[in-house]
Amino acid sequence: MRIYKAKDYNDLSRKAANILSAQIIMKPDAVLGLATGSSPIGIYKQLIEWYQKGDLDFSETTAVNLDEYVGLKKDDPNSYAFFMKTNLFDHINIDRNKTFIPDGMENDAERECVRYNGIIKACGGIDMQLLGIGCNGHIGFNEPGTSFDKETHLVTLSQNTIDANARFFDSISVVPKHAYSMGIKSIMQARRIVLVASGENKANALYESICGPITPQVPASILQLHNNVTVVADSDALSEILKHHEIGSGGHLI
Ligand code: GLP
Repeated sequence: MRIYKAKDYNDLSRKAANILSAQIIMKPDAVLGLATGSSPIGIYKQLIEWYQKGDLDFSETTAVNLDEYVGLKKDDPNSYAFFMKTNLFDHINIDRNKTFIPDGMENDAERECVRYNGIIKACGGIDMQLLGIGCNGHIGFNEPGTSFDKETHLVTLSQNTIDANARFFDSISVVPKHAYSMGIKSIMQARRIVLVASGENKANALYESICGPITPQVPASILQLHNNVTVVADSDALSEILKHHEIGSGGHLI
């Protein structure tokens, strides 16, 4: 695992966007696993800028998103489909037929999960998976306690996640209680993983995920077992880790 310390959120966004753009340049038909939340917004802005300058071409790229709230329509401003459209897809030349997000309006969970797992397989697997991290160590919507061997599944969101995500909604009572999420097994099958974290509220989760025991209680801790993970985090998010370790110039913990 390599860990890059970013000066601030802008630096984090540029560093992570560089990694994603390298993937796209080296493999134009790459399958990117994409994430939502506040953390990747700066990365998407940077990718859009480079696309507009003519430095990036998404025409052959496929995007497979991590998760979606159950019960929100694609055009609901709080749906992850809407997030991806407004924060990235509307501004780049990706073929919309090659962008995939679980369908939050499908009531038959088993059917939707089988369909989504089929999409990931049909794409040939994910070349590079972008991840944020929840304050409780979740990745995608894999909440603490979720078994590591799940592919796409229906999740009951924890109160911690509902509280954390309430800031995007008019009131906490309208935050969905369920989501479809790629499982840990799906995430671990990605060839490369890039996890980004910003802010002090992520410091404990990041410390436990990287330096603590590997346990379903801290879903992101499984990433210690993946052979190609890059973490890009700002000093606030790294603060707990930096109390115990230094990070060398190669991005390794010392
Ligand atoms: C949500 C998403 C996660 C994301 C997490 C952190 O729960 N499902 O994929 O990583 O929030 O979000 P943020 O980046 O806004 O802190």
